[in-house]
Amino acid sequence: MREIQYSSGDLVADRRASYAAALAAERAFAEAAELMAQALEMVPQWVAGWNLLGAYREAAGDIAGAVAAWTQLLQLDARGLFGATLKLAAHGAGGSAQAAPAYVEALFDDYASRFEDALVGRLGYRTPEMLEVAIRDTLAARGATRFERALDLGCGTGLMGERLWPLVDRLEGVDLSANMLAEARRKRTYDRLQKADLVAFLLEAPGTADLIVAADVFNYVGDLQGPLAAASNALRPGGLVAFSLETHAGPDAVRLGTTLRFQHATTPTLAICQAVGLRTVRVEATTIRLERGLPVEGAIVLAERV
Ligand SMILES: C[S@@+](CC[C@H](N)C(=O)[O-])C[C@H]1O[C@@H](n2cnc3c(N)ncnc32)[C@H](O)[C@@H]1O
Repeated sequence: MREIQYSSGDLVADRRASYAAALAAERAFAEAAELMAQALEMVPQWVAGWNLLGAYREAAGDIAGAVAAWTQLLQLDARGLFGATLKLAAHGAGGSAQAAPAYVEALFDDYASRFEDALVGRLGYRTPEMLEVAIRDTLAARGATRFERALDLGCGTGLMGERLWPLVDRLEGVDLSANMLAEARRKRTYDRLQKADLVAFLLEAPGTADLIVAADVFNYVGDLQGPLAAASNALRPGGLVAFSLETHAGPDAVRLGTTLRFQHATTPTLAICQAVGLRTVRVEATTIRLERGLPVEGAIVLAERV
């Protein structure tokens, strides 16, 4: 577990917090929580401290205690950087199971420099590769070799872009996180990179894209009605949208996991595609990565604008 650390502004409280972090690294979460609670008695307005206390209590199995810490966090974190609403919702304790852009931005700003090592190196992340294969197959089936204008939604550090650029004339990426975009910029594969929410970006130039890709992004977005309608609107007729989902087999179209990522049911997602003018051309159930050594179930979906 790694939670964002910030100073409390009080040396003694900071020292308690660093002992707590050391204990948490040894998986002594209850003891870590105890020390964090002491630090917060000294600095009760320490927003990041409440976040850490919630994380330690959750890891210690003290969900009621974690909920109390996140409820306090919700009061203090006006910008929603620590995702208190998602954390509460994931434990059925109120909050709201909606996308939380400020939280996603802070999460990936913090993660950017370690992202590729962590995801590709340790978590067996192969989604860009799987999407590339599916896109190439579809191109081949159409007897075509290239796309003109491609959009990489939630482009992150550019792992998907590296695979797309040989297939496209123009590649544009969008992401909420400036630090992820800075990593992507270094790869020099994008003609344009934009810091924005993907729906706003898609609404910029209707009917002009040939390919829209979202690799491991919709699991941070939640309800897909808006994003898929915007993608459909951005595509030329015959244009392709290719995305990955983290899936679940329950009755709900979307649910929030305790990982704070959204999981989608495949059939309702395909129904949204159809409703917004996207005809499904390929659906493939697959493992999209590992989490704590276990496979995370997902799907690769390709659909074309009718
Ligand atoms: C797990 S990373 C995947 C990055 C990249 N697509 C890849 O496959 O390596 C998810 C990315 O989506 C971005 N993201 C999440 N929600 C977004 C939104 N609503 N608009 C733009 N970017 C978003 C995050 O900032 C993050 O960089």
